[in-house]
Amino acid sequence: MKPARSFASDNNAGIHPKVLEAITAANRGHAVGYGDDPYTKAAVRLFKQQFGNDIEVFFVFNGTAANCLGLKALTEPYHAVICAEAAHIYTDECGAPEKFTGCKLIPISTGDGKLTVESVGHAYHGIGDQHHVQPRVISITQATEMGTVYQPREVRELARFAHDRSMFLHMDGARIANAAASLELTLREATRELGVDVLSFGGTKNGGMGAEAVVFFDRRLAQDFLYVRKQGMQLASKMRYIAAQFEALLSDHLWRKNAEHANAMAALLEKELRKIQKVKIVYPVDANGVFAQIPRKAIAKLQQRYFFYVWNEEQSVVRWMCSFDTTEHDVKQFAKFVAQTLSGAA
Ligand SMILES: Cc1ncc(COP(=O)(O)O)c(C=O)c1O
Repeated sequence: MKPARSFASDNNAGIHPKVLEAITAANRGHAVGYGDDPYTKAAVRLFKQQFGNDIEVFFVFNGTAANCLGLKALTEPYHAVICAEAAHIYTDECGAPEKFTGCKLIPISTGDGKLTVESVGHAYHGIGDQHHVQPRVISITQATEMGTVYQPREVRELARFAHDRSMFLHMDGARIANAAASLELTLREATRELGVDVLSFGGTKNGGMGAEAVVFFDRRLAQDFLYVRKQGMQLASKMRYIAAQFEALLSDHLWRKNAEHANAMAALLEKELRKIQKVKIVYPVDANGVFAQIPRKAIAKLQQRYFFYVWNEEQSVVRWMCSFDTTEHDVKQFAKFVAQTLSGAA
């Protein structure tokens, strides 16, 4: 029998029971649509408690929309967005960021998913030249697609680089909870205080059902966002159900507990995998993902029992993600199966 939980993606996990309870609790009677309801107001209050009273926050259905619409609020079509080559906006959003912003995305190759001031500097050119797109946004992912986490200093440097050049720093925070937990920072310390201008705040991978938000740390940038969101087809009529999820995640530190747990399970998985000779961990395990190089011929065998994604076919690197509901038993069973399969015993 296949195990109930695998290591393919933190999106494959279900809904945290407390989030589901909050959805059920919101499912009483009627509530005004499109965000003019008590649940949305309460969730916005919680965001303000986390990030400061002077923010603007908008709920959307998914992370691709949070990224695309957040970037749209910062740009004109003749602008460019500088991002890592592995960035979700560049590789996994079907060109939606280009479609919705009209902007060119400038990908930068990185060893570990992280942009640096030096690497961004190479893409910053053609300024004031009418033949060139004008760089307007640096977009970073935190935690990165490779499971690494930018240190506060690294984010601050990128923010300074951007702001010194009239650019913005956008953060794809689909896993911002995992990053903040890993850095032992508050959500505000991990974002706003490092100079982030607009944050895609991920709730789904943290135990939500489909709850993402765009957070603006400078209200002026959000001036037209109500229209951008509606035109972007992301204005939820029954918004109370998204809001209720955030209410649960932002209450009693649930977001942090879930993220800390997922991170701890990834650390345990790394520890167990390091005992297996033929497994090579290829990136630092800073958050909830483990990337490993394994013998190519073992991949299909492993996938027969545990579905997961191959990250880099050429290099035979696979991605294993942990979630809020991954258990120590899951990790140990999986590591045992990997060891057996690689030794030819399974
Ligand atoms: C780094 C990152 N950003 C954004 C997303 C959001 O994607 P979706 O539009 O599927 O919610 C994901 C989901 O896999 C992700 O990994």
